[in-house]
Amino acid sequence: GVDTLKITVIGAGYVGLVSGVCFAELGHEVTCIDNVEQKIKQLNQGEVPIYELGLQPLIADNMEKGTLAFSTELASSVKQADVVIIAVGTPSLPNGQANLSYIEQAAKEIGMALSGYTVIVTKSTVPVGTNEKVRAIIAQHTDEEFDVASVPEFLREGTAVMDTMNPDRIIIGTDSQRAEERLIELHHSLTSNIIVTDIRSAEMIKYASNAFLATKISFINEIANICEKVGADVTQVAHGMGYDKRIGSSFLKAGIGYGGSCFPKDTQALIQIAGQMDYDFKLLKSVVEVNREQRLNIIHKLESLLEGLKGRTIAVWGLAFKPETDDVREAPAFEIIAALRERGAFVKAYDPIAAPNFEAQYGSDGIAYCEDAREAAWQADALCILTEWGEFQQVSPSEIQEWLKSPYLIDGRNVYDQDQLAGTQLVYYSVGRPGMNKGMREEVPLLSL
Ligand code: UDX
Repeated sequence: GVDTLKITVIGAGYVGLVSGVCFAELGHEVTCIDNVEQKIKQLNQGEVPIYELGLQPLIADNMEKGTLAFSTELASSVKQADVVIIAVGTPSLPNGQANLSYIEQAAKEIGMALSGYTVIVTKSTVPVGTNEKVRAIIAQHTDEEFDVASVPEFLREGTAVMDTMNPDRIIIGTDSQRAEERLIELHHSLTSNIIVTDIRSAEMIKYASNAFLATKISFINEIANICEKVGADVTQVAHGMGYDKRIGSSFLKAGIGYGGSCFPKDTQALIQIAGQMDYDFKLLKSVVEVNREQRLNIIHKLESLLEGLKGRTIAVWGLAFKPETDDVREAPAFEIIAALRERGAFVKAYDPIAAPNFEAQYGSDGIAYCEDAREAAWQADALCILTEWGEFQQVSPSEIQEWLKSPYLIDGRNVYDQDQLAGTQLVYYSVGRPGMNKGMREEVPLLSL
């Protein structure tokens, strides 16, 4: 067999925790470091601070086997490590630029602790050139031999473990043969394609990939908006487009736009990176703008149905930025609920697991957090679906109609299909499917040839 590597992961957030746990599962010896003591204490007691399918049992197994440990002691772990993985946060600064202070701090501490040849991997999403900065900072603090490499992470929340264990590709950006060999060894039990690039290209691959996916979403959302005007159905359009292998069928679901910890931040950061080089990334700026406006289309639909929102009670199903996660970062729900409140509506919200996180950020002014979907919808003037949780699919539209005071359902994620709506009196608005809109006030205009 191949040797077990000693790995230190710095930052026990989403990326750090999941990749640390997966590398332990792949047979390496992993220590996850975080400077938040409470988090490390929790993890050592077997509690997982994030909701992620399949993560908890993997943590428990590997802790028991002794292949996974959690600690706040960076130096002692880095000293023994063959590979150090930087997975700290790179939050947006107010101007959209990535804040690199956590990366720089980590690099400094790594430099002071290094002992023996070590490969320092950056997994955090960082602007092109950051790995070279990391190299310079480490070099200022050590005389030991080391190399840096960029190994970007493409995991999605909700399927993070599966994505990490079966990635579409592994990108290894490095300028050193020795580091390349060690990192191939690190991934030896994965069957995925390994693509070796130079460091700057690896850094760019991450931004370009996320920006491209965000572009697909904004593209299909604009097609949906046009479909509403011309009387076409965006789900059928996307289905038809997806069979072209060059287009592909994924990331063509129209809705209220993308949120989450990556797309909003990374698109802004790439616009900034280009701007610093005096390049105006017009296409990506539009992608961001379309995404912002798409969230508010739901408000326009509500306003046209209810003739004003003042004093209305609006039910909201779904607060997470997508299903199967309790993460609310950049969730469309923030802007939509704020817009409802600004227009004088009262909100009753329900999410299967993300409500506490949402409340912690948004507060409870003018919003009631409900125990279940029924309680939120009960006697409301309209219901908006903002996240396509599976359990909403299970509720029949005729039940929704019974619960609501007025039969208005605004489906921001195209959860229901024609058959489920048949027989109800719901006034139903979805995204880009005008044929399913019942009880619309405006007729769909026909195209004149
Ligand atoms: C994303 C990338 O997929 C991942 O590769 C990267 O590492 C991090 O960012 P994540 O943010 O977890 O992952 O979620 P993802 O499933 O990609 O969805 C992002 C957002 O796009 C969600 O708000 C989702 O609702 C929205 N989306 C996605 C659409 O609106 N339509 C689609 O067709 C797909």
